[in-house]
Amino acid sequence: MALKIALLPGDGVGPEVTAEAVRILKNVAEHTGKSFTFTTHAIGGVAIDAECVGLPDATREACLGANAVLLGAVGHPKFDGRLPSERPEAALLALRQALGGFANLRPAMCYAPLANRTAFQTDRVRGADLLIVRELLGGLYYGEPRGFDASGDTAFNTLVYSRHEIDRVARVAFDRARERKKRVASIDKANVLETSRLWRSVVSEVAKEYPDVAIEHVYVDTCAMRLATSPTSFDVLLCDNLFGDILSDQAASVAGSLGLLPSATLGGRVDLYEPVHGSAPDIAGKGWANPIGAIASAAMMLRFTAGMEREAAEIDHAIEDALASGARTRDLAGPGERVVSTRDMGQAIEDALIEARESRHSYHAV
Ligand code: NAD
Ligand code: IPM
Ligand code: MN
Repeated sequence: MALKIALLPGDGVGPEVTAEAVRILKNVAEHTGKSFTFTTHAIGGVAIDAECVGLPDATREACLGANAVLLGAVGHPKFDGRLPSERPEAALLALRQALGGFANLRPAMCYAPLANRTAFQTDRVRGADLLIVRELLGGLYYGEPRGFDASGDTAFNTLVYSRHEIDRVARVAFDRARERKKRVASIDKANVLETSRLWRSVVSEVAKEYPDVAIEHVYVDTCAMRLATSPTSFDVLLCDNLFGDILSDQAASVAGSLGLLPSATLGGRVDLYEPVHGSAPDIAGKGWANPIGAIASAAMMLRFTAGMEREAAEIDHAIEDALASGARTRDLAGPGERVVSTRDMGQAIEDALIEARESRHSYHAV
């Protein structure tokens, strides 16, 4: 069966990094004989510019008719004066809602060759391997009412969670932990927030069904500190929508660069894959962006939507091999290290993929 992929390159570095993910997916299609079809659609600032709407109906329908969506990034400083509902980011939030995925998986690991790139102490970060499971369709992002009062001097948002919303994402976290180191840290602010009281009690109930998985409840502020001082003490981090957003960028500092982190959003009608980073307007169009987050997102697509675990793992290994061979985009390069472009990093990963296959063949041939 063909895998229908809707591509939404979006704004800023989005098109640059998406192109490298497509390069890798095309290589896998060619190698395996599987049919991947790609269609490209507008979202975000480019869609506002062209069609006066961030999520055109045609884009939404194309995504709903696909097997998976691969998004680059949305957002541009020229929209900074606008209300949230009129910005490119609103299109992404609307797309997430339309696709229905509530569990956003954001793995962050310290790649051995990059241990010196962490914002924290190298010795403490080495070996870190985290999975943030972020609730993606609830909480402050979507809670009603929201807005400004008539005077414009008061603004408000609503933090609301239901038992059902917490239960379903908690199960994803525990299921993933079973495939990993069997530890879940549930992140909340239960010393202050009612929603966190409910969060903690629902997660504790779900935990009883997973006696083989260790559960700890961690306040979000302590979690931020522990991510900096002892990230290896975590395995799966279960977070609400806002805490997961913030902590995943901090986890990127553990890994060494925001450009490294991928994500998969599961549980809805169509799975959505996107790097964790934004449109990076400060480096857009320069060929400096790190495509690894986008490429690793494509690997997650093969793993979770296409059931191609082997090919997904091969891409993950090729990323590690390319890094081990010294390939560094600007965000990864230390003093004196040679810098490669976005495209060259994509090429280095494709080369590593091909080389790994060839060495396996020659091994079998012996
Ligand atoms: P950002 O993630 O775009 O950039 C933060 C910093 O990380 C910048 O210095 C940038 O150069 C760097 N960076 C990001 N991605 C990189 C990559 N692939 N390679 C190398 N360096 C990279 O965050 P921001 O600057 O706060 O936001 C810019 C815009 O992106 C805003 O409009 C924001 O709302 C939007 N945004 C979109 C998404 C998304 O589409 N999923 C995610 C986050 C932010
Ligand atoms: C992310 C981004 C988005 C979010 C924005 C662009 C709406 O920061 O995916 O991490 O906050 O979810
Ligand atoms: Mn974010």
